[in-house]
Amino acid sequence: MARAATRAADSEQLRSHPDLSVRLGPYQYQLVTKEGKAIFSISDGTESTTKNLEWALGDGSFGQTYVYREQGKYYESQLSFYTRLNALDTTTGHMEPKNLETAAGGLAPPDSIRQCFACHFTASTTNNRFDPDRSIMGVTCEACHGPGAQHAQLMTVDPRDTGGLIMDLSKLPPADSVDFCGACHRTSADAVLTGISKMGVIDVRLQPYRLQKSKCWGKGDARLTCVACHDPHVQVVRNVAFYDTKCLQCHLRTKDAQAVAAHGAASCKVSSKDCASCHMPKIEVPGTHTTFTDHWIRISPPGAAYPN
Ligand code: HEC
Ligand code: HEC
Ligand code: HEC
Ligand code: HEC
Ligand code: HEC
Ligand code: HEC
Repeated sequence: MARAATRAADSEQLRSHPDLSVRLGPYQYQLVTKEGKAIFSISDGTESTTKNLEWALGDGSFGQTYVYREQGKYYESQLSFYTRLNALDTTTGHMEPKNLETAAGGLAPPDSIRQCFACHFTASTTNNRFDPDRSIMGVTCEACHGPGAQHAQLMTVDPRDTGGLIMDLSKLPPADSVDFCGACHRTSADAVLTGISKMGVIDVRLQPYRLQKSKCWGKGDARLTCVACHDPHVQVVRNVAFYDTKCLQCHLRTKDAQAVAAHGAASCKVSSKDCASCHMPKIEVPGTHTTFTDHWIRISPPGAAYPN
């Protein structure tokens, strides 16, 4: 998460692909990264325009979108870099452009750009003023552990020194802990209020909402919070076997295993390992060129409809 935003010209994806070009419909696109600049050019054959890309959002695990500024307004690039394609393609959720300017990017309304920076940067708003030039790129210690440059400094000296932390995040009750991650990953309440929960597969990106729909979650359980399975200080573990011990904190590995208090949930008739591979299926989300892990833990027979 620390690399959730960078200067566009510093983006690893762009530096390793310094000259990207693609034709989409009537538009020819080129994105050239060199000498500390990322320049995006769009031509329709008669006219052309260029944009100086300032920020790259997303570490590119699957995609990266760029933001540029013109006359104090912010625009989200019409094209994003997709890791699976190793190329540029239309940014998730963007419509077909109507003219050269919208072929370059879409105007991001002030509220939307504020939220965008609030989730991908740290301290982009200070004293009620939105000031992206002074914000820290990426999700840093402060974003989760509270403000205070002094504390941040202390932590860079000795990251294990808990004395520097403003909030002890390990003491949150289960639902609050999940909502805490939901500040950016979006909470169950967000999913319902925004209507995303009724929009089909895209709600798979809202892990707190999906997780809390699982029978496993019950009324909330510390063994099933986000931090029970993910250490927010390191990259997500992409090895399904790693998660077995998490499931087996509650489920019995075999039918014959001895149930003890708080560890008596049913065993599986089908397998005793790689639980998440069947019960947390990967879902392709249109327009993202990637799959997301469904956090609604469930029995999911092949070909079954996606439950909303
Ligand atoms: C301040 C906003 C913010 C908060 C709070 C937050 N996240 Fe994230 N998280 C992000 C963003 C943005 C990304 C996308 C990462 C990227 O593109 O670099 C992300 C990505 C992730 C990923 C996948 C990428 C990876 O390998 O790290 C995991 C896992 C994750 N977050 C877990 C958590 C957990 C667990 C919590 C709660 C302890 C949490 N996050 C709280 C913003 C946040
Ligand atoms: C409510 C918080 C939030 C807002 C607002 C938000 N993001 Fe994100 N973004 C996330 C989280 C969390 C992830 C990782 C999980 C996911 O991809 O669903 C993410 C992932 C991404 C990714 C993919 C990163 C990867 O890992 O490959 C891109 C690109 C991205 N966001 C761009 C944007 C842009 C551009 C905006 C603003 C116009 C924006 N986001 C607004 C929270 C947010
Ligand atoms: C995405 C949110 C997030 C970010 C970013 C983050 N932390 Fe944490 N941190 C947490 C949570 C949540 C806990 C409690 C973990 C638990 O309950 O297991 C925690 C716990 C800790 C602890 C207590 C000991 C431990 O390992 O459980 C220390 C020390 C710590 N973090 C330091 C840091 C430092 C230093 C950084 C920046 C490099 C940082 N954190 C960034 C969310 C975050
Ligand atoms: C906090 C304890 C806990 C954890 C951790 C947990 N579960 Fe569960 N799970 C339960 C309980 C309790 C039930 C039974 C709910 C019921 O049927 O009343 C359940 C139900 C299920 C079901 C049946 C769902 C259905 O729709 O009938 C499956 C499948 C399942 N769990 C798989 C998993 C897998 C896989 C993991 C790990 C990724 C996991 N669980 C982690 C407690 C847990
Ligand atoms: C029972 C364990 C478990 C819990 C609890 C859990 N996750 Fe995950 N998470 C996984 C697994 C398994 C993967 C996929 C790992 C892989 O690719 O092998 C994953 C992947 C992710 C990813 C990477 C993107 C993707 O879809 O593959 C993000 C982001 C993420 N989880 C966020 C969260 C958040 C936020 C929470 C809390 C609401 C959470 N997770 C709770 C098991 C869990
Ligand atoms: C190869 C896919 C696969 C793997 C791997 C797998 N399961 Fe299952 N699981 C299933 C299927 C299919 C069912 C439904 C079986 C039925 O109804 O006859 C099921 C059923 C369940 C149930 C419901 C049992 C009941 O009696 O209601 C639980 C709980 C469960 N699995 C947990 C787990 C756990 C925990 C693991 C890892 C130790 C795991 N599963 C690994 C496919 C799998």
